[in-house]
Amino acid sequence: MSNLRPPGSVAYNNAGRVVLVSGGASGIGRAICEAFVHTGADVVCLDIDADAAASLPDGIAFVAGDTSSEDDCRNAVEFAIQTFGGLDVLVNNAAIQPPSSYASLHEFPRDLWERMVGVNFTGYSFLAKHALLQMLQQQSGVIVNMASGQAHRTARKVPAYGPIKAANLLQTRQWGVDYARNGIRVVSVSPGAIRTPLVEATLREQGGEAQLANRHPLGRIGRPEEVAAAVLWLASDAASFVTATDLEVDGGLGAFGAFADPYPMPAP
Ligand SMILES: NC(=O)c1ccc[n+]([C@@H]2O[C@H](COP(=O)([O-])OP(=O)(O)OC[C@H]3O[C@@H](n4cnc5c(N)ncnc54)[C@H](O)[C@@H]3O)[C@@H](O)[C@H]2O)c1
Repeated sequence: MSNLRPPGSVAYNNAGRVVLVSGGASGIGRAICEAFVHTGADVVCLDIDADAAASLPDGIAFVAGDTSSEDDCRNAVEFAIQTFGGLDVLVNNAAIQPPSSYASLHEFPRDLWERMVGVNFTGYSFLAKHALLQMLQQQSGVIVNMASGQAHRTARKVPAYGPIKAANLLQTRQWGVDYARNGIRVVSVSPGAIRTPLVEATLREQGGEAQLANRHPLGRIGRPEEVAAAVLWLASDAASFVTATDLEVDGGLGAFGAFADPYPMPAP
């Protein structure tokens, strides 16, 4: 069954599809959960923040867990299968970038390094591994990895976040190639700055909101729903020939060259 309504309509029909979103209790992940629920999907949110479960909109099932734990990833996938009968879409979204991670490599704390690798990189692989075991039985599925504009080009003092996000692009290509003949597509999304608790924590610490907005040719920070809209499309049959690749959802940020970095953008 196609998960798109007839041409001319922009609405998606995800009725009967089962979607698992990591880090779905906040920010971009939450908007993705809401977008899938509003289009009829059965949605499971896996998040480390168990308290956030109570504030999730109706219709989103919650599983508490830490994606850096393989047992927690297996548990979330099994919950989705047992509760809803399968798994059609995995969104690997949970990642951390605490303000303390803005540091040079020579002063980067070892425990924070290991935590960021564990959640932002290994966690994506653990969750994908257990999702793939199910998707291989089905011979169908879509995995969406949340990468970042910082996967493509760097900023000062992001020696862990940037390189790990770049690795998310290679996870996408690797799995996309390996499972293409099994009816499984793997794609990633690279957002620019999006107004979420993660970004607001950094802006509180470092300031510079107007400058950050101005770096985007569209002249503003993005909204979580704008990333969710891209995920809906990538997970739909409309993107049936799209795999092992990345989509930048960044208000044009990535089009700037390095020369744009030190200068505020001239007003349009
Ligand atoms: N916000 C942006 O501007 C931006 C830009 C580029 C990429 N991204 C990426 O988008 C994704 C979501 O970012 P966000 O801004 O919505 O973040 P956020 O901090 O608002 O939300 C992240 C969610 O993940 C959960 N989480 C954290 N660690 C977890 C773990 N180990 N196991 C399970 N859940 C965990 C948190 O509890 C939270 O609910 C991340 O992959 C991030 O790197 C965000």
